[in-house]
Amino acid sequence: MQLSTKHLLGIRDLTPQDIQLILTTAGHFKEVLQRPVKKVPTLRDITIVNLFYENSTRTRMSFELAEKRLSADVMNFSASASSVSKGETLLDTVNNILSMKVDMVVMRHSASGAPHFLAKHIPASIVNAGDGINEHPTQALLDAFSIQEKLGSLEGKKIALIGDIMHSRVALSNIYLLKKMGAEVMVAGPPTLIPKYMKESFDVEVEYNLQKALEWCDVANVLRIQLERQNQVLFSSLREYNLAYGVKREVLDKLKKEIVIMHPGPINRGVELDSDVADSKQSIILQQVENGVAVRMAVLYLLAGGNANAN
Ligand code: CP
Repeated sequence: MQLSTKHLLGIRDLTPQDIQLILTTAGHFKEVLQRPVKKVPTLRDITIVNLFYENSTRTRMSFELAEKRLSADVMNFSASASSVSKGETLLDTVNNILSMKVDMVVMRHSASGAPHFLAKHIPASIVNAGDGINEHPTQALLDAFSIQEKLGSLEGKKIALIGDIMHSRVALSNIYLLKKMGAEVMVAGPPTLIPKYMKESFDVEVEYNLQKALEWCDVANVLRIQLERQNQVLFSSLREYNLAYGVKREVLDKLKKEIVIMHPGPINRGVELDSDVADSKQSIILQQVENGVAVRMAVLYLLAGGNANAN
């Protein structure tokens, strides 16, 4: 089987079959990553550039490791250390890189739609590593893989996305993916951080009470408060946000069941998530990071034209 698309621009464009193929292939690669020799020759002779116009720790390192595990040739580009500071455009930058015979571009950009723009203008496959407040497809794929690994399946599971829904590309990609795969989705947080159109446009539950959201869900995916994307005051203070919407031990202890805690990182400890929850055995945050490598190996392999036999 092959993906129905040449690029991974967003979960919105994927079919449920595409998503299942990526998750199944990631399972094969996770098995490869448990072996003493973790490297496979699958993408030998493929050159990939990681084009990061916005800061990243997890996504960037995870893509680079995935590419190296697949034996691809890897180039890393940081906008802050490049000729972008001299005024070079995105298209000129990429065309210069492509003239060095690059096959795939992994791109993070603060502008929503930047990877879609590139895909229209260059022949290489583009992988969106997060664009503005639009999508972060590989984060949603690794979140789904981690939920499946923990709970056995996505179908019928209740997933609450908690916090700054308005500015979160992770939220949008998760909503598209989870709905396509038959999960029930709730968005929860303060009314000022949840767009008014969520229920009508995305067919998700909306809840403004944290305790009720946690009682409803099997999995709480707690999202970072994105202060860098907020140009107006949307809640009174970080301390008050933590009091009303911070996921903390005493809130979880009131529940009748043990729920799974996720967070895409980086965590604002003591704001959206307290340390005694983030570091508890209920949390699968570091498993999410581990699974990110296998998921990104699967995406790169499939976009390069592979099939489901990962080894
Ligand atoms: N989850 C995530 O995208 O983290 P980074 O910004 O560190 O890549």
